[in-house]
Amino acid sequence: MNNLKDFDKQHIWHPYASMQNPLHVELVKSASGVYLTLENGEKIIDGMSSWWSAIHGYNVPEINEAINSQLQNMSHVMFGGLTHEPAINLAKTLVDITHESLEFVFFSDSGSVSVEVAMKMALQYHQSLGNTKKTKLLALKKGYHGDTFGAMSVCDPVTGMHSIFKDVLHKNLFSASPTCSYDEEFKDEYIFDFKKMIQTHHEEIAAVILEPIVQGAGGMNIYSPEYLKQVKIICDEFNILLIFDEIATGFGRTGKLFAYEHAGVIPDILCVGKALTGGYMSLAATITNDKIVKGVEANGNVLMHGPTFMGNPLACSVANASLKLLLESPWQKRVKDIEDTLHVELKKCEDLPIVKEVRILGAIGVVELNKNVDLAWMSREFIKQGVWVRPFLNLVYIMPPFIIKEDELKTLTSAIYKVIKSFEKEKNKI
Ligand SMILES: Cc1ncc(COP(=O)(O)O)c(C=O)c1O
Repeated sequence: MNNLKDFDKQHIWHPYASMQNPLHVELVKSASGVYLTLENGEKIIDGMSSWWSAIHGYNVPEINEAINSQLQNMSHVMFGGLTHEPAINLAKTLVDITHESLEFVFFSDSGSVSVEVAMKMALQYHQSLGNTKKTKLLALKKGYHGDTFGAMSVCDPVTGMHSIFKDVLHKNLFSASPTCSYDEEFKDEYIFDFKKMIQTHHEEIAAVILEPIVQGAGGMNIYSPEYLKQVKIICDEFNILLIFDEIATGFGRTGKLFAYEHAGVIPDILCVGKALTGGYMSLAATITNDKIVKGVEANGNVLMHGPTFMGNPLACSVANASLKLLLESPWQKRVKDIEDTLHVELKKCEDLPIVKEVRILGAIGVVELNKNVDLAWMSREFIKQGVWVRPFLNLVYIMPPFIIKEDELKTLTSAIYKVIKSFEKEKNKI
């Protein structure tokens, strides 16, 4: 087994990590329910749902069965000039469960690519209609939309991981990240910067792109639905399209099937991914309305995108099984139960001096510290506590599978409390 890990260390790049001086990685042998089984047989509770995606946990019989049966028919065919039942059924479900105006589905192979497609839709819309000056997007600081170049160009320009590329990225515009918490009474000043950016730059702005209600990897910021309502009013006033990136928040994570439902604000373009396949494999979709389709295709143009693995039948079958499972499950109650437990258990972390704030919405719990964590040290401590939690910067956060049981969730939250507490002690020693 050590040979495997040695090879990994010497030859395989891991995300956002050094190849020459790699961080320690755990070798996972299998996963089932909410547990990951490591090479030594130890089982740890997954608090991360494999980065938001494994909402049903792992090794799910219904999804396994969907893959097996699709494999007997075909694993893949190109989507240019061909179509198939798994993609048609998936598009039907997506059209069905999103707002009635969102009728047209473009499949792609990852969240980042679905964002690229959304950006292209918005830019092509304005170009085709002759609004040739509208070539920029307005995004929010602390936003995260993926790692491809277009997506990077709308990630937080300073704290985002991509500031390194700033000189080669398309120059987009940024407004302050929302500062009004979910339940807070909304004041006009909360939207002031956004309004000012639009008033100043509306002639060059094709679309606003944002993660509704929860900004994920850019800062785990949870904000007021009223902010979205204001954004919509201002965008409509200046002929600016609205793109919602629900790659992290979609499929129940925030307590609503889609986070835009918290505000009742419907985007022109919606990106989904991650939990679309229950975390089994990579698939994403960009869903849009009649106005965008007609605009993009004005003057005989068509949307210029077509990935090789677009609408992959295996991935679509998995997504169909995952969505069926979700929609037939008591997911609202499960997410609410997780939220209630987090309110009681994770909130206890606010007693620790090193903790700045605990934020909770749906099946998302965030502990913000007033210091950056030591990732290597903390990951090891979490494993000792029997859980998988992977913090970044000063954020320790979880978004567990919806099927997690109360005692398992309490194991996670008490591990977070203990590890943060001992981190505080360690730091005080230095
Ligand atoms: C909000 C959001 N958008 C886009 C992405 C990129 O998705 P992917 O990693 O599948 O390319 C992510 C991934 O973390 C995300 O959280």
